[in-house]
Amino acid sequence: MEHFIINGKKPLAGKVLISGSKNATLPIMAASLISNGEVVLKGVPDLEDITVMSEALKLFGAKVDRENDTLIINSRNLNSCELPEDISRKMRASNLVMGALLARFNEAKVAYPGGCAIGTRPMDLHLKGFESLGHRISDGHSYMTGKGGNLEGTEILLDFPSVGATENIMMAASVIPGITTIRNAAREPEIIDLQNFLNCLGAKITGAGSDTIRIKGVNELGSGEHQIIPDRIEAGTFMVAAAITRGEVELQNVILEHIQPVVAKLKEIGVEVIPYKAGLIVKANKRLRNTDIKTMPYPGFPTDMQAQMMALLATVNGTSIIVETIFENRFMHVQELRRMAAEIKIEGRVAIIKGKSKLEGAIVEATDLRAGAALVLAGLAAEGETIINKIAHIDRGYDKFHIKLSDLGAEIIRKLE
Ligand code: EPZ
Repeated sequence: MEHFIINGKKPLAGKVLISGSKNATLPIMAASLISNGEVVLKGVPDLEDITVMSEALKLFGAKVDRENDTLIINSRNLNSCELPEDISRKMRASNLVMGALLARFNEAKVAYPGGCAIGTRPMDLHLKGFESLGHRISDGHSYMTGKGGNLEGTEILLDFPSVGATENIMMAASVIPGITTIRNAAREPEIIDLQNFLNCLGAKITGAGSDTIRIKGVNELGSGEHQIIPDRIEAGTFMVAAAITRGEVELQNVILEHIQPVVAKLKEIGVEVIPYKAGLIVKANKRLRNTDIKTMPYPGFPTDMQAQMMALLATVNGTSIIVETIFENRFMHVQELRRMAAEIKIEGRVAIIKGKSKLEGAIVEATDLRAGAALVLAGLAAEGETIINKIAHIDRGYDKFHIKLSDLGAEIIRKLE
């Protein structure tokens, strides 16, 4: 097992290049299964989750080759529509292959991805969507199976704007005759990127980014090339890294529109965010103050930035309140931040953060991806040394995280335990 060792209180300075979006890449890799040819994906981050998804695609018979940040996926000769438990359990997002397998084979057998630290992660909205399209779904305890029945485009209303359910239904409906309309669809930028990718393969989808998506089924999807959008959560994480160390950092490869909710909150607490070329400059050399945050589906404040902002708010003056409305167990970082002298109380889905001038280095443990990132940020601000264990969680979602941070002046090394 490896860990990070950080010596804190070094204001970050310099430039950081943001990688491609993990949460755009994963559904797009799944969607490549529908193509009867070859797809070329550019700007793909080098992450553990991408490796797991590549393993899954190869299991179905796809060829997957990587050249630096380019993935070449050839799905001409697929020979299986079954995702076994050992792969599915490695990553929640492996559930995204189900819609693509149904589109390709009219059949799918996908082991339940199981919950993860932040919540049970049910699939009911995905399965209801597939059934509305005409698939016969059986929801076993360890496997979900689907088989094409009388497939026809239809109207689907999501009880909740689930990102994964929206993506899975888009993929399944892309080659079903007729018009499918998804109402109360998720509006995240990654949905728009998936629409653009599918349309470049020949799909006919409109409305992504709004709460109503319209899919006109086509016979098949062909080959294509696509540039993955930048990772808005990695960008947000580095913006908070600049703020929590009271430094000045230039982020390159950022789409400002995608990160507006985080920009707005940082400005509220006194951080300067200046658009600059194809990115932005984050400056935090003034006294920062408290604020309140409520996580919401896009374009609200992203739940994937909740832990990072909590670490920052623990270091500013005043009391802040964070309400986590998306996942039922996404405060695992609180107990670890407390070890670093943060003063945080939890009442159900509400966290009350009593900001204070300094955090203290400690030995802490990453419990999930974004909690781990928050602990790194807290370590950058803390007095003394912080050791972060179980950093494999962080490798799932951050490409060369400690290298990018040390290039900005952070004192952080990665060591075998
Ligand atoms: C995606 O997960 C992201 N993952 C998550 O990022 C992100 O936190 C989440 O969207 C919300 O923005 C990827 O894109 C790979 P949801 P997803 O379906 O699709 C409930 C990260 O850190 N729900 O929008 O699984 C669910 O329980 C990860 O990069 C149902 O009830 O999220 C949750 O409470 C973490 N039934 C809420 O909806 C369903 O069928 C949001 O889930 C599906 C979801």
